[in-house]
Amino acid sequence: MPQTFVTVAYLAAALLFILSLSGLSTQESARRGNLFGMTGMALAILVTAFGPRTGNYGVIAAMLLAGGAVGAVVAFRVGMTAMPQLVAILHSFVGLAAVLVGVAGTLDPSMHLLGAEARIHEVETYIGVVVGAVTFSGSLVAFGKLQGILGSRPLLLPARHWLNLLMVLVWIWLATRFIGVSSPAPVVPLLVAAGVAAVLGVHLVVAIGGADMPVVVSMLNSYSGWAAAAAGFMLDNDLLIVTGALVGSSGAILSYIMCQAMNRSFISVIAGGFGTAEGAMPAPGAKPAGPVRTVTAEDAAQLLRDAKKVVIVPGYGMAVAQAQYPLWEASKLLKERGILVRFAIHPVAGRLPGHMNVLLAEARVPYDIVLEMEEINPDFPETDVVLVIGANDIVNPGAMEDPASPIYGMPILQVWRAKYCVVMKRSMASGYAGVDNPLFYKPNTLMLFGDARTTVEAILAALRADEVSSPAAG
Ligand code: TAP
Repeated sequence: MPQTFVTVAYLAAALLFILSLSGLSTQESARRGNLFGMTGMALAILVTAFGPRTGNYGVIAAMLLAGGAVGAVVAFRVGMTAMPQLVAILHSFVGLAAVLVGVAGTLDPSMHLLGAEARIHEVETYIGVVVGAVTFSGSLVAFGKLQGILGSRPLLLPARHWLNLLMVLVWIWLATRFIGVSSPAPVVPLLVAAGVAAVLGVHLVVAIGGADMPVVVSMLNSYSGWAAAAAGFMLDNDLLIVTGALVGSSGAILSYIMCQAMNRSFISVIAGGFGTAEGAMPAPGAKPAGPVRTVTAEDAAQLLRDAKKVVIVPGYGMAVAQAQYPLWEASKLLKERGILVRFAIHPVAGRLPGHMNVLLAEARVPYDIVLEMEEINPDFPETDVVLVIGANDIVNPGAMEDPASPIYGMPILQVWRAKYCVVMKRSMASGYAGVDNPLFYKPNTLMLFGDARTTVEAILAALRADEVSSPAAG
C-alpha cells in the first residue's frame, strides 16, 4: 500500500474520530458518533496493518483475532454497572503498550538515529514510558477499587506530597542518565524510571477514595491518551499522535467538568488524594441519625395519582435493580392522566458519566423529559412528588448544609424542596461516598424500602389496577 494512500486514510480516520467525539456530545447523535468512531478505528487498523512499514502478517492476524475475540466477549458480557472497571482496565492496556513500545524501541538494534534526532527520540521515549507506567499502575489500582478487590477508602500516607515530589526528582535525575548519554541509549535508567512511575501511579490513586473515583478514571483516560500520543511520536505514527491528543485533551476536559460537578479542585486531582483531608471520611455504615417515615408502594402510588408535577431522580440503585423499564411504564400511565413527569439527571449519578442517560434511553424515555441538574433544581419547590430511585449521594443535603460533610460543596439535586420526596432503596445504608444522608430524616421525606425493581413494579401494578377498575381514567 503506497504511503500517500496511508496518509490520506489516516487523515480520514482522524476526521472520523473528531466527528465521533462531537457526535457523542448529545444523546440524539451518540449512536452516530459511535459509528464514526468504529469506522475510523477499523480504517486505522486496516491501513496500519497493510501499510508499507508492516510485515509479519501472520503474527498481526493472530494478535488481532485473539485481542478482538477477548474484547468482544468481555464487551458482550460486561454489565452497565461494571463499565467503569472495564474502562479502567482498558486504560491500563494503553499505558502498558506505551511502556513496551518505549522499551522495545530502546532495545531495537536497527534504530540508528544521530545527533538532535536521537536526543528528541530519547526525550519522547522517556516521557512516553513514564506517562505510560503511571497510567498502567494507576489504572490497575482504579480497577481494583471499582471492582471491590481493593477497599475504596483512601490510603493517605504521611508526607505523601513530599513522597510524590521525591519520585519526580528521581525521574529528573534518571532522565539525565538516559538522554544524551550514549548511542544506543542505556535501557536500565529507563526501566528504573518506569518502576518509579508505576509506584507513583499506585500512590496517586490509592490516596483517592469515596465519591472522587469517577474523576480519577477520567483523569486516567486523559493520561492514557497522552501515553498513546507519546507512543505515536516514538513510532513516528501521525494518526496515533492525533488520536492520543484527542483522547488526552477530551479526557482532561471531562475531568474538569466532573471536578466542577463535584466541587473539587482540578489541580489537586492531578496531585492525588483530593477532597479527602485526613480523617474526613466517616466510618462505613455510620449509625442513622434519627427516625424516618416509611410508606408502602400503594401509598406512593396514591401520592403520584394526586400529584400534578412529578420528578424522578434515578441513581446507582436503579442501575443495579434494572428498574428503568417498569419505571417508564409507570411514568407513561401518569402522563396519560395529565401529570407532568420529568427525569432529573445529576452529572455523576451512577458510576460513569452519562450512566443514567444510557439506562433511560434503553427504556426509551424521550430525551425532552430528561433534564440536567441546573435545569430542574429551580423547579423542585413547584413539584408535588419527587421519586428518588436508588440515588443517595446526589440528593444529600449535607453537601449544602453541613460544612463538616466530606461531600460538602458538591452540587446536588435539591429534592427536599418538593412537597413530598419518596426515597426508594433497600435499607438505611449510605451511598458511594459512605456518608449518612440527612434527606431521610426530613419531615416531607417518605422512605419506601425494597429492591427498586420490585417496588416500582408494585407501584406500576397499583396504577394499572386503576386503569382496569376505571377505564375512563386513561
Ligand atoms: P449512591 O450514592 O452510590 O447510592 C446508591 C444507593 O442505591 C445506595 O444508597 C443503595 O442503598 C441503593 N441501592 C443499591 N442497590 C439497590 C437496589 N437494588 N434497589 C434499590 N436501591 C438500591 O449513588 P448515586 O446517588 O447515584 O451517586 C453516585 C455516587 O457514585 C456519587 O458519590 C459519585 O461521586 C460516585 N461515582 C460516580 C461515578 C460517575 S462518573 N457517575 C463513578 C464512580 C463513582 P441500599 O443499599 O440501602 O439499597
